[in-house]
Amino acid sequence: MKLKKIIDLGDTGKSENENSTGDTQLKLDIASDIVIEKIFATVPSIKEIVSEEQDSIVPLNEDGEYLIAYDPLDGSSLVDVNLSVGSIYGIYKNEFNAQNIVASVYVVFGPRVEMVVAMDNCVKMYRLFDGKFNYVKDIKLSESGILNATGSTQMNWPNHHRELVNDMFKDGYYLRYSGGMVPDLHQILLKGGGLFSYPGTTDKPKGKLRQLFEVFPFALTYEFAGGGSIDGYKRALEVETTHIHDTTPCFFGSTKEIKRVLEAYKNHG
Ligand code: F6P
Repeated sequence: MKLKKIIDLGDTGKSENENSTGDTQLKLDIASDIVIEKIFATVPSIKEIVSEEQDSIVPLNEDGEYLIAYDPLDGSSLVDVNLSVGSIYGIYKNEFNAQNIVASVYVVFGPRVEMVVAMDNCVKMYRLFDGKFNYVKDIKLSESGILNATGSTQMNWPNHHRELVNDMFKDGYYLRYSGGMVPDLHQILLKGGGLFSYPGTTDKPKGKLRQLFEVFPFALTYEFAGGGSIDGYKRALEVETTHIHDTTPCFFGSTKEIKRVLEAYKNHG
């Protein structure tokens, strides 16, 4: 069934399949992936693509320069409750790893459709109207913010992480967490700052979010917007990738909050 029809008819159910990270794929995940792959196949500058929904890299054009890792519909389980979702694209050269990411793009599908492009050291936001994306503004994070988006299962948080989160709330931070990485990180970027965390937990020490499709693209965006992104100890963009579906604990925020995480984690490596 076509993507638009699945959305309109409310068929947001599960498919029979699981993706490589063990998530049950929704029909929407698969349909979105097919749409995006078809379009990428027509672009000569793309050498290879890899989707979060697929097990392996798909070669496209031998002479192409760019490699794209993408999550076609991040947060797809939120579609049936009509919350915002998004797509994330990491654009790499030579190899799929943090050292080789050159640009990133995400699109938020909410009451408005917005696209944010991180490249050449700046972050630009565009909004869809009259059938095309129009430039709205450059995005810059403040030194610090007031939002605190705290991901993963709280029961399994390590104690130092729990203390960090509790201390931030005691200092007046607001909880803002929809369960969609794209709208949650977009909100922090547009409201000036704060912290999004998806830590390693006792049951999942390497976290849940995927390096190539989710973490590195947003790490580049946050760094270019004047903030930062770490795995608790070092820049997320220094994390090593051994497999395309590797995950990593991750934190994204303005500089003050990122320093605070480093401080809270420093004796817990
Ligand atoms: O990776 C998919 C995703 O839905 C992200 O968009 C989101 O940040 C995260 O999972 C939410 O996970 P949890 O429900 O465990 O907090």
